[in-house]
Amino acid sequence: MLIPNTSPTFLPWEDNDPAPQWGSIFGNDNPLALEIGCGVGDFVVQMAVLHPELNFIALDFYNKGCIKTCKRIDKSGLTNVRVLRAEARSFIETCIPAGSLRMTIINCPDPWPKLRHRKRRLVNSGFVEYLSRFLRPDADFYFATDFVDYGLDVAEFMAVQSGFVNQLAPDTFRHTLERYPGSKYMRRFLDLGQPIYYVHYRKAQNTG
Ligand SMILES: C[S@@+](CC[C@H](N)C(=O)[O-])C[C@H]1O[C@@H](n2cnc3c(N)ncnc32)[C@H](O)[C@@H]1O
Repeated sequence: MLIPNTSPTFLPWEDNDPAPQWGSIFGNDNPLALEIGCGVGDFVVQMAVLHPELNFIALDFYNKGCIKTCKRIDKSGLTNVRVLRAEARSFIETCIPAGSLRMTIINCPDPWPKLRHRKRRLVNSGFVEYLSRFLRPDADFYFATDFVDYGLDVAEFMAVQSGFVNQLAPDTFRHTLERYPGSKYMRRFLDLGQPIYYVHYRKAQNTG
């Protein structure tokens, strides 16, 4: 049985529930930022401090991670973050109005290292094309991974993905990113001496 999450920062939502009314939930109409797979929430707490002008949705289907994320947010006193336990694609489809996200963040997604499992990876060209529908023109797309093959793959397909402008040009990825906090997984791999692959694109202004 799931441990109940009683934090005021937690938004209970299940498949088939209606979309949350973000403006009334946050008490303002600031643009939305979505972190997919927030883990234990250490990244989103730091990012929400850096960007008080954005309303952050921290999403993960891991219940204990959501509980830890909520505890961090409640302790910080931040009012611009809410936590949801849901699968990314079904959540986005129902709960994110088209063209509304100002920022999307995916840090250290499950790497599915075995060749025969690669198709289970969340981030690929088709997913970014799908996600693009929910991004505002000028929206930031951040991806970070500790897994070399995943990093190179995303860097490679994003370089030819239509409708996005590389913010790290002429590089397609970097191993450091300014004003971008660390996450639990990033720190774990940096401590082992493994580099992080960061990719940063912005949705082009003139795309639908
Ligand atoms: C390897 S952990 C990384 C956590 C965190 N981003 C970090 O860097 O420390 C990946 C997280 O993504 C979540 N996750 C994976 N696929 C997901 C999906 N489709 N929808 C929601 N969460 C997902 C997992 O539950 C897990 O917490």
